[in-house]
Amino acid sequence: MSVYARIRGTGSHLPERVVTNEELERLVETSDRWIRERTGIAQRHVVADGETCGDIATRAAEAAMEAAGVGPGDIDLLILATSTPDQVFPSTACLIQHRLGIPGGAIAFDIAAACSGFIYALDAADRFIRTGGARRALVIGAETFSRILNWEDRGTCVLFGDGAGAVILEADETPGVLSTHLHSDGRQEPLLNVPWGVSKGVEALMTDPASGKVTMRGNEVFKIAVRTLGAVVEETLAANGLERGDIDWLVPHQANIRIMAATARKLELPMDRVVVTVDRHGNTSAASIPLALDVAVRDGRIQPGQLLLLEAFGAGFTWGSALVRF
Ligand code: ACO
Repeated sequence: MSVYARIRGTGSHLPERVVTNEELERLVETSDRWIRERTGIAQRHVVADGETCGDIATRAAEAAMEAAGVGPGDIDLLILATSTPDQVFPSTACLIQHRLGIPGGAIAFDIAAACSGFIYALDAADRFIRTGGARRALVIGAETFSRILNWEDRGTCVLFGDGAGAVILEADETPGVLSTHLHSDGRQEPLLNVPWGVSKGVEALMTDPASGKVTMRGNEVFKIAVRTLGAVVEETLAANGLERGDIDWLVPHQANIRIMAATARKLELPMDRVVVTVDRHGNTSAASIPLALDVAVRDGRIQPGQLLLLEAFGAGFTWGSALVRF
């Protein structure tokens, strides 16, 4: 008998503080109108002083566990997708494991694939479950990008927000995750990066503090993202023998409303079949897909049995998709 991974519950958490476009107008030379027209973003959430990725991830995980009706003792795999971990080590996944009371002996690790991180984590958890390595997985995407933004760079600081989303994946006889498709291309690293890393040493960061912040050649990234996401959704449809109109919901990474609209056009899906949260959340990187998923599950749009196409594109470049029967 084949074993599949099914989503049993979703959860999310957003930091309390909301930063509006008007507030950013006071920081950099920008306008509410430009940000809305070029990105679709009206506001984003930002963590408080001392609040970490692990803090908001734990809250999202608790909400997902409650929705799934499972306790910490039921979870044997925890994967956190993030580019903004709490510490160099242990992994933030291990810190969350302890905080949630998930028993020692469970598997816990972080995955870094920038904005595609959640798709990478979902793919990994799906493989663990299908091969018998785990029965019930907590898969989280959580980020505190506000910590790595250059608040003087209008080309990036208006785009991102903080947040966390989570799903409980469980072994089941009925297919849930139908297919996943992951890709990367490291040649494009200069277009989107945070060039500093711990192996360069803290001294390098002190000498060049800007190297610890996001840099992006947005317009070039935009064009590649549109083209690449178009290709990966085609790949997903073809791998599953589906027609364009067969998808019930597109749950895309929330980087820019114009990128989402281009992918929806490729799928011949009307925008009311696309889950959009970028207006309220901004780009929360690895958190954006599970956050959007949770919003649409809780407001009743996404119903059991429906076919969902999740897709993401991010630094690396990394990109990928997941076709999921909810
Ligand atoms: N306010 C006002 N003007 C601005 C702002 C701003 N916040 N930011 C840039 N501009 C200006 C530019 O300076 C430029 O001015 P110029 O013509 O005088 O030189 C003009 O607006 C147009 O700039 P573009 O960069 O060409 O604008 P574009 O329409 O491409 O929008 C954006 C920029 C929103 C960044 C878009 O390119 C985008 O969304 N890119 C993709 C982002 C993405 O998907 N990233 C991947 C995931 S993120 C991750 O993995 C971490």
